[in-house]
Order: sequence, then C-alpha cells, then structure tokens
Amino acid sequence: MIYLNGEYLPISEAKVSVMDRGFLFGDGVYEVIPVYSRKPFRLADHLRRLDASLAGIRLANPLGAAEWTALVVRIVEQAEADDQQVYLQVTRGASATRNHAFPKIVSPTVFAMSEPLLPPPAEQREQGIAAVSAADNRWLRCDLKATSLLANCLLRQLAVEAGCAETILFRDGFLTEGAASNIFVVRDGRLLAPLKNHLMLPGITYDVVLELAAGNGLEVAVRDVLEQEVRGACELWMTSSTKEVLPIVSLDGRPVGTGLNAGKPGPMFEKMYGWYQEFKQSVMHGESHG
Ligand code: PDD
Repeated sequence: MIYLNGEYLPISEAKVSVMDRGFLFGDGVYEVIPVYSRKPFRLADHLRRLDASLAGIRLANPLGAAEWTALVVRIVEQAEADDQQVYLQVTRGASATRNHAFPKIVSPTVFAMSEPLLPPPAEQREQGIAAVSAADNRWLRCDLKATSLLANCLLRQLAVEAGCAETILFRDGFLTEGAASNIFVVRDGRLLAPLKNHLMLPGITYDVVLELAAGNGLEVAVRDVLEQEVRGACELWMTSSTKEVLPIVSLDGRPVGTGLNAGKPGPMFEKMYGWYQEFKQSVMHGESHG
C-alpha cells in the first residue's frame, strides 16, 4: 500500500495528473527515511529537513509533524520488510494550464511509499567502492531536497558508466558532496567534513557520523575542503540514508591512501563502521528514534 493525498491504496491504483507540477517542472521536495526493525531512524530530523525544503520552495507544509509521523508509522506497519526505506514526496500539485508561475490556489500532491532497505553488499564494505569525480554543475540551492534531480542523475550516471559507485563533486576547487551522498575525508588522522551550506544537502547520516566521531574522541574539522585534500586523502567515505557509511578506495582510477592502506578501506573507516552499527543496534532496541 502507498499513500496518496489522504488515501492508502495499491501502487497500481495510485494515479497522478499529467498536469502535476512535479511531473512538468520537478516542482517538489522529498525525503528518504531509513527504517530498521520497523523503527524509523532519525525521523524528527528527516521531518525537520522536509519542512526546511518546503519552506525553501515556498510551499506550505500540508501536514504537521504529528500527522507525518502517523503517516510514516502506518506505511511502515503495512509494508512487509522489517528494514525499509520510506519515501515521502510533496509537489506543488496540478494546475489547469502549464505555467511556470505558481497556481493561485495550490493543492499539493502528497505521496508516501515504503520499499525494502537492503544493506550495501558486504563486498562494498569490505573491499570499498570506486568513485569518479566531476564538476558540480547543479544549481545553487543544493541544500533543498528537491525532486528536480536531473543534474544528480546525469552525474551519477557518469559513475555507473565508469563502473563506479559514486561521483564526487567539486565546485571552484572545493568538495561539495556526492551525486547522492555526502563525502568525508580523512587526512593525518583527522576527519574532515565540508561545512553545511547552500551547495550541499545537509545529510542526516552526515550528522550521525559527526556525532559518533565527536562522541568517540576523533579529531574532527568541519570546514571547506579543497579538491587537492580529497585527491591526497588517506581515506574517503560516502554516507547516505540507504548506504550508511561506505569506504571509497579509488578516485578517477587512482587508489585512495598510501602505503599498505592504499586502495583499501582505512582503519578510521573500520572504527566508524563499527560505531555506526552499534548505534543502529541501540536505536533498534531502545525507545528513541536515534
Ligand atoms: N539521497 N547528498 C545528496 C545529493 C543526496 O541525494 C543524499 C541522499 C545525501 C545524503 O543524505 P542523507 O544522509 O540524509 O540520506 C547527500 C537519498 C538517499 C536519495 O536521494 O535516495
């Protein structure tokens, strides 16, 4: 069952107008919320970010936090898998004619569904993944989780066609993020993360990783990260709600790191992966939502 505009129905019966601005203009925002053992992870943070994305595109939030929570709980209950990814989407709805300007009366389209969440294959975690790099040619509001993802799709496809898992993006000589993930850098025993701004999505997994790093006494610097620092990194990681934390072991065909660790997941990744799994376990077995 999926949720569409107040109704729960089978996906084959869910229909949206071809005049929906989500379809015509990509005029909408979304969220992807991981669910472990039927417990939504960091739900409040995801709902806060949804609220910020809606405010950013000047679309009133059609539901309050309690209503969103009830909706997510029901979608999770009705799905088969214990581990799920809940997808929420709000668009500016349909209008009578195609017109860039907002309709006078907006009736948003609200959509929610759940899909099974499979952890990344063990091989990716144990051996690491390969990445390519590209110039970040997206718009200047990458902090909004907008459904207009054409640039991200084109950029991710570069990775796929190179036999890689992710595309790392640089803008004006600085790291922004991945095509669908945030990127962390380890150099000289210190974890570097780009400062949140309008050029990257404020990742929920990014927050978790920084909290775990601080809680476990890692030396962390959150600041602008130079492209050269990425290219000369000891370790690179990608993070997202669906991939958690994965080690990137090659960039543009060159191994990440030096010496014995070159081209292999690094020691700091191994620690972070362990902390992340422990934290997930504690959330699954505790009362909080992480
Ligand atoms: N994408 N940056 C971009 C551009 C993303 O699309 C994502 C996640 C992230 C990581 O954010 P979070 O940790 O909150 O998932 C960063 C989701 C998973 C997607 O579009 O499917």
